[in-house]
Amino acid sequence: AVPSLASSDGFLQCLLQKIPGELVLTQSSSNFTAVLVSSIRNAKFFTNATARPLCIVTPIDASHVQAAVLCGRAEGVRLRVRSGGHDYEGLSYRSVRGGEVFAVIDLAGVRSVSVSLGDATAWVDSGATLGELYYTVAKSNPELAFPAGVCPTIGVGGHLSGGGISMMMRKYGLSIDNILDAKIVNANGELVDRAAMGEDLFWAIRGGGGESFGIVVSWKIRLVQVPSTVTVFIIRRTVDQGAVDVVTRWQDVAPSLPSELTIRVILQGPQATFQSLYLGSCAALLLTMSSLFPELGMTSADCREMSWLQSAALIQFWNPNTPVEELLNRRTSLQGSTKGKSDYVERAIPNGVWKNIFPWFTMNGAGMVILEPQGGFVGSVPAAATPYPHRSGALYNVQYIAFWSGDDTAAAANRWISDLYAFMEPYVSKNPRAAYVNYRDMDLGENAVAANDVSSFDSGKVWGRRYFAGNFDRLAAVKAAVDPTDYFRNEQSIPPLLALS
Ligand code: FDA
Repeated sequence: AVPSLASSDGFLQCLLQKIPGELVLTQSSSNFTAVLVSSIRNAKFFTNATARPLCIVTPIDASHVQAAVLCGRAEGVRLRVRSGGHDYEGLSYRSVRGGEVFAVIDLAGVRSVSVSLGDATAWVDSGATLGELYYTVAKSNPELAFPAGVCPTIGVGGHLSGGGISMMMRKYGLSIDNILDAKIVNANGELVDRAAMGEDLFWAIRGGGGESFGIVVSWKIRLVQVPSTVTVFIIRRTVDQGAVDVVTRWQDVAPSLPSELTIRVILQGPQATFQSLYLGSCAALLLTMSSLFPELGMTSADCREMSWLQSAALIQFWNPNTPVEELLNRRTSLQGSTKGKSDYVERAIPNGVWKNIFPWFTMNGAGMVILEPQGGFVGSVPAAATPYPHRSGALYNVQYIAFWSGDDTAAAANRWISDLYAFMEPYVSKNPRAAYVNYRDMDLGENAVAANDVSSFDSGKVWGRRYFAGNFDRLAAVKAAVDPTDYFRNEQSIPPLLALS
């Protein structure tokens, strides 16, 4: 039920009794808008039509998060939790449900990273960015790192709840394969760790998508070993230089290369860009490439040797002069809008089809496509070990990204991505056509809320089985056990699988 204005007042009064007033920003606070937009990545989610939260709570401590949950439940106000704000559908700070009164819990102030060199672990708060995590870990020991996404402004909270595809997943798995413990504020407002939450909930929060089970405040992660020198290359091949053949070949090679070597592909314009991270020296990489992937024509001139931290900066910024400190920059820009979609490819797409795919990148409204190879460790984990099911069968993940600025280009960009997605259907996974929850896509479906004010399982399974395959039902069972009244929910949260009465 939509809370009345009286319950909104009650929520604010309850909060102000429990936490310092300066941590609660109402719409009339002078810095409300500045804080709201501080981590919005997608201009299309900040317009006059976008529903504003009743207030933004800016915790600096887990007890503030607990207060927000207790007050929210008592007064019937829902919470949207935001760590880095990168959600592709903006569900961490906006509601698509007309009239829903909600508050945003912005965790940007809960962001410490505490490294334990002795056992190569760290506790990282959800509001830290991946860049802050990488920087802090590497400055503690340059031979330690963490396998997580490429963009440094991504928040740990959303990323670790949803998977964590990276340039090291072939060696070390997804981010979620390296989580040892977590502290979560549950639907009763209690702060619980792994031992107290139990293994079912601990399983669910490692890949089941954020916001369905509670608010994860911090994570204990296993750090991974990297050599003091790694090697990066960025090689571009246009269609005229044989890009179609090289990409065709890449599909067979990339998922079966030694796990120390990841080569991802960015398709944009009439060109394929091969970006690589190798956990070793240039000399060793040259030997591997000449025997396993000579078609790319890599030479020693392509090699750039550097520390792992420098490689994280280079792969993001594409500029060798960008200092590693730029990984700490949390600033975002509201200049552009994007739409993302995803697929998994299980059987290599034939060369003749690639010939027909490349012209899509020079069409009106064209965006880009990123191909991330699986195989190696990420493919060896059993599909039910974590909620992320796309393991041994997947050769690579496909991410489609449309972008535009201004209304005049929006229609062409959106048409491009939906038409390309339709074109790709015969060549990607089926029954269901799979997708990656961290590339959230509302086109896949949205929960209906049933008469008992609980998200319906039947509506959830439409999109849920595409993200989670057979793991969706277990996620829904965990949800029923820990949050049966569906307090933590959004348009694509896990619905509770309640026993049939
Ligand atoms: P945000 O704060 O928007 O949260 C995302 C979701 O998680 C929301 O539903 C939110 O409510 C929930 N949530 C957030 N914090 C929570 C918490 N503490 N407890 C419970 N729920 C919480 N992915 C990838 O795997 N590899 C990659 O390389 C990239 N690269 C990339 C680049 C760019 C530019 C973007 C915009 C996105 C990516 N991603 C990615 C996708 C990214 O992993 C995904 O959007 C994450 O959910 C973002 O996490 P944030 O905390 O930033 O998002």
